[in-house]
Amino acid sequence: MRIALTFSARGTGPAEDPDADTTAAVELFAAAFAKLGHDVERIDITGSPARVIARLEATPPDLVVNLAEGARGRTRDALFPAIFEELGLPFVGADTATLCLFAEKLARGASLEDTLRTLVKAACKRFGLTEKSDAARRPKKALRVGLTFNMKREAGDDEAEFDSPKTIAAIASAIESYGHIVVPLEADADLPMSLAGAHPDVVFNVAEGRRGRGREAQVPALCEMLGIPYTGSDPTTLAICLDKSLAKQILRAAGIDTANWQLLTTGREKLRSFRFPVIVKPNAEGTSKGITGASVVSDEAGIRAAARVLIDRYGQPALVEEYIRGREFTVGLLGDKRPRVLPIMEVVFVDPAEHPVYGFEEKQSDTPRVRFECPANVTPAEQRRIEKCVRDTFTALDCRDVARIDLRMAEDGGLFVIEANPLPGLAPNFSDLCVIAQHAGMDHKALIGEILAGAVKRAQQGRASAAAALTGAAAPAAPPPTPGSASVPPPANKPAAPSPSVLPPPLKA
Ligand SMILES: Nc1ncnc2c1ncn2[C@@H]1O[C@H](COP(=O)(O)OP(=O)(O)OP(=O)(O)O)[C@@H](O)[C@H]1O
Ligand SMILES: [Mg+2]
Repeated sequence: MRIALTFSARGTGPAEDPDADTTAAVELFAAAFAKLGHDVERIDITGSPARVIARLEATPPDLVVNLAEGARGRTRDALFPAIFEELGLPFVGADTATLCLFAEKLARGASLEDTLRTLVKAACKRFGLTEKSDAARRPKKALRVGLTFNMKREAGDDEAEFDSPKTIAAIASAIESYGHIVVPLEADADLPMSLAGAHPDVVFNVAEGRRGRGREAQVPALCEMLGIPYTGSDPTTLAICLDKSLAKQILRAAGIDTANWQLLTTGREKLRSFRFPVIVKPNAEGTSKGITGASVVSDEAGIRAAARVLIDRYGQPALVEEYIRGREFTVGLLGDKRPRVLPIMEVVFVDPAEHPVYGFEEKQSDTPRVRFECPANVTPAEQRRIEKCVRDTFTALDCRDVARIDLRMAEDGGLFVIEANPLPGLAPNFSDLCVIAQHAGMDHKALIGEILAGAVKRAQQGRASAAAALTGAAAPAAPPPTPGSASVPPPANKPAAPSPSVLPPPLKA
């Protein structure tokens, strides 16, 4: 059966939280349930309860095994059980019956596996469940999920930000593992037609777009035009974040520190007075395209030379920024209004040059030039400051569902946001966000489930508003929390969904 293992992760909530569960403990339970043949969903409940509710509604489990406690107040132990009850989800957890069962089994020398087997049996009896997943219910919950992507077919700069066939297949299979139907949709010139023709209930978007500084916004803009809920930030946020200079203006206006900068469209402009060294990078690229150690320059001639190369190569302005010496961090966030901050990851430069950068070379493969420390070795005060900084950045740029924010801590402790990535890479075991998620106890499937939940929630709200408009009633702010209401059966006239295995083959490995 599908078991949601809810826990409160250590190191992602308040620094001093003594009730948090360690990743090791969660993994122990998850492994034991998996051994018993169950499909385990790890759900960290730190952060906003609204996010957890959206997640549970989007992918309702057959049974919740709750290891978590709420964060605050005398009734914190009761918070999540009350939520499970309200959602109509069978659950067991740190209640007296469960604890007695544990104590008794363990006292008799039973293994964790045996104990959990008994626990599941008892829960099934109590709630009238069958130990097998309720397969008959599953198709009713299935959503048609359009997976929009740009596939990497060539090595090199042009398609560096695109996703490999392997990554696309992994995302597709994660979505399918929730019982949904995946419709692969390549974000090329045919997308306007194929998207409309595919009739998805929601779109899971990882498409980077092909051209222009608004390219990341193109798929979400199409979805909005067609009224299809989609994962991630809206077109405005995606377009602004891709244009680093514009995003920095918003950060400055919100009182968030970011290095002094200037945008050069020709390379011949009068320069503002910089504190050297500076870094010269393309204004609207990702994956550190055009960024190497040589991007850090120490005089005006160096700025102009580097800018001209980038302007010619990428056909866009070059961004000159004061180089921030100090430790570099990248931080993942999930959610919406009150995003949850995942453990802070430090990018540690092995054998650092005088002005190290996390450049294109360092991002292409496992390279010995950088290593990652997650959670980063920071003091509780530094952790709180970094978490506030990235939360403020997420909010100032109006990010939604997911983002990864890069920042540096200057030698005097000041924090400077380098950039926000509202469409971060999702390559399993490779992309920074996936590595961070693993440290938060979330495997790739769980991370995809978290991101998908946002779009499913908006789909539910859209349906509730549409129904209210039809009946003339006031639209509810949020849908009534009915389990299973997350999904609608596909209309009979919808075309059969192609399986993800029909993804076009790569031209190159
Ligand atoms: N102002 C700066 N000071 C110090 N280092 C910087 C600065 N700007 C960029 N860097 C270095 O260059 C790297 C890449 O910069 P940036 O994040 O802007 O590029 P990107 O192409 O958008 O990266 P991503 O792969 O995260 O999309 C940073 O991680 C950092 O190591
Ligand atoms: Mg970056």
